Amino acid sequence: MRFSDKVIVVTGGAQGIGKAIVDAFLAEGAFVFMMDLQHGQSAANLVWIQGDLTLDEDRKFFVDEILKSKRKVDVLVNNAMVFTTGLRSHTPTEAIRKAIELGAIAPYDLILQLSESMNESSSIINLLSTRAFQSQADSEGYAMAKGALGSLTHAAALSLGPKVRVNAIAPGWIQTKPSTLSDSDLLQHPVGRVGTPGDIAKAVVFLASEDAGFITGETITIDGGMSKRMIYHHDEGWTFATKENHG
Ligand SMILES: NC(=O)c1ccc[n+]([C@@H]2O[C@H](COP(=O)([O-])OP(=O)(O)OC[C@H]3O[C@@H](n4cnc5c(N)ncnc54)[C@H](O)[C@@H]3O)[C@@H](O)[C@H]2O)c1
Repeated sequence: MRFSDKVIVVTGGAQGIGKAIVDAFLAEGAFVFMMDLQHGQSAANLVWIQGDLTLDEDRKFFVDEILKSKRKVDVLVNNAMVFTTGLRSHTPTEAIRKAIELGAIAPYDLILQLSESMNESSSIINLLSTRAFQSQADSEGYAMAKGALGSLTHAAALSLGPKVRVNAIAPGWIQTKPSTLSDSDLLQHPVGRVGTPGDIAKAVVFLASEDAGFITGETITIDGGMSKRMIYHHDEGWTFATKENHG
């Protein structure tokens, strides 16, 4: 039990990758606080607080509850995010602002409010996406928020070091809900499959552990090798469909 007596804070832990992260830390003996839009039950070593991380007052309530009860934080995982479209959908500026509030301002605010209660073995882990570095069309809201969170990661590593390490994980395609996948869906990944929430949770626990003590300001891409694939028209049967891709 590597995380006995450790206090872990996770955003968006109700489902998907966030839930796997919460479960992984609980299995390691940690005490976990989480905030999610969804309601849920607290349990042994888990405090579930319902709230909207885009709201200042809900973030303040979350922080107050953590520090009132435990007075220290060992690990903060900024995980909550929703996909947000962009130019092709004429997504209004207000929706883009909200995406950045959830994906980058909320993580900054939680770091600002919690980092003074961290100690010399503390760690912050931000969930990016390979979409921080490459894109499909119509994903500006999401890409902008993830890009900002990536920059926050390396800047905060400098500001909070040597006390606190700050790293990021950039997942690729992670299957969080049951769905039917084709052979091509799987085999386009050099490892031959899509990812699981557990693939990401294991890496979060590693980055939070003392085994990662010399790693800070870093982003680890976990995408089954997908973003390493160089694609040219007619490679491996792939064709560039001009109409589809240029709208
Ligand atoms: N699933 C993937 O393929 C994938 C790929 C790359 C990156 N990611 C990133 O990993 C993280 C988790 O992804 P996921 O697929 O598990 O997401 P998900 O949509 O399954 O879960 C996100 C959680 O965040 C919560 N949430 C959303 N808005 C909130 C708000 N305003 N306040 C509080 N809670 C809120 C939701 O209720 C939900 O429980 C995200 O940052 C996502 O961008 C996921």
